[in-house]
Amino acid sequence: MLVLGIETSCDETGIALYDGERGLLSHTLFSQVAMHAEYGGVVPELASRDHVRRVLPLLQQAMGEAGVSRADIAGVAYTSGPGLMGALLVGAAVGRSLAWSWGVPAVGVHHMEGHLLAPMLEETPPAFPFVALLVSGGHTLLVDVQGVGQYTILGESLDDAAGEAFDKTAKMLGLGYPGGPVLAKLAEQGRPDIYKFPRPMTDRPGLDFSFSGLKTFTLTTWQASDQSEQTKADIAYAFQQAVVETLAIKCKRALQQTSLKRLVIAGGVSANKGLRVRLAAMGKELGAEVYYPRPEFCTDNGAMIAYAGYLRLQAGQTEELGFGASPRWPIEELPPL
Ligand code: KG4
Ligand code: ZN
Repeated sequence: MLVLGIETSCDETGIALYDGERGLLSHTLFSQVAMHAEYGGVVPELASRDHVRRVLPLLQQAMGEAGVSRADIAGVAYTSGPGLMGALLVGAAVGRSLAWSWGVPAVGVHHMEGHLLAPMLEETPPAFPFVALLVSGGHTLLVDVQGVGQYTILGESLDDAAGEAFDKTAKMLGLGYPGGPVLAKLAEQGRPDIYKFPRPMTDRPGLDFSFSGLKTFTLTTWQASDQSEQTKADIAYAFQQAVVETLAIKCKRALQQTSLKRLVIAGGVSANKGLRVRLAAMGKELGAEVYYPRPEFCTDNGAMIAYAGYLRLQAGQTEELGFGASPRWPIEELPPL
C-alpha cells in the first residue's frame, strides 16, 4: 500500500511517499525559517499561507522522484494536530480533497505519534515495548510505548518544552531564530567547568520537567557576565549540559521504573549531538539500547507522517469525509491498533 504523507503543523511543509513493501520512496521539505526569522519567531498566518503555496509543488516533486503516478497512491495521511490551527487546516484540506478526488481513504495523524514512530524508518528499528523521549519545540514527553497507539505518559514538561527552552535562551543570547541548533553549535566552543547550571526537578522523585527556571538562570548569568564571545559560548555549553543532563536523569529513571530496555528519542532536540552522546553512555550503563531517527527526520518532516498514516490506514482506520484539526490533542486519547 502506497501512502502519501503531508506535514504542515508548523513552519515546515513536508511531503513523503511511503510504501508498505518498498519502504520510503521519496520525501520533500520546504522550511519557512528564512521567512519567520525576520520576525524572531513563527508568524502563524504567514505559515498557513506559505503551506498553501508549497504543498502541491512539493507533492509533484516527491511523485516525480518516486516515479509514481496518482493511480498508485492508495491512501493519504495528513497531520491533523497538535500544531497551529491554520497551518494544520492547509494539510487537512489538501489531504482530504486529494483523497476524495482519487477515491482513496484518508487519515489524520497525530504529529507527536509521527515523531515517536520516526525511528522505525531507520535500518534497525526498535521493537515494542520501549520508553520514548519526545523533545520538540512544542512538547517534552516521556512515554511508555507498548505498541502503536498504546501510549502512557510517564512525564511531561510543566512549562517550556525542551526545544522552546533552547529557542528562547538562544534569543536571549542574541542568536536569532530558530536558535536551538545555533546554540548547540556555539556550545561546541564552550569550555566545561566554567559555569554549572541547575538540573531542574531532578532532586525530587517523578518524571516531569520544567525548563523555564533554567532559562531565567541563563539570562541572569549572561547579564552579570562580561558578555564576551567566549563567555557566550561557555554559557551556551552550561545551558545545553543542564538540559541534556536533566533529560538523561529522567530517561534513566523512566527505564528503571518501567524495567524496559529500549529508549527511543525523537523530535527536533533529538538531533542534538550532546544529547545523543549522553544518552548513549546512559544506555550502556543500564544495558539498554538507544534509538533515534536520522537528523533530517528528528525535526518536522513528511516521512514520519506517511509512515504513521500507513500503519493506521493499513489497519483499516480512516475518517469520514469532512475534516477537523486539533491544535491541542493528548496523545493518550489515540485508539490502540
Ligand atoms: O520537532 P520539531 O522540528 O518541531 C516541533 O514539533 O516543535 O522541533 C523543533 C525544535 C526547535 O525548538 C529547535 O530549536 C529544536 O527542535 N532543535 C534543536 C536542535 N535541532 C533542532 N535543539 C537543540 N539542538 C539541536 N541540534
Ligand atoms: Zn515536530
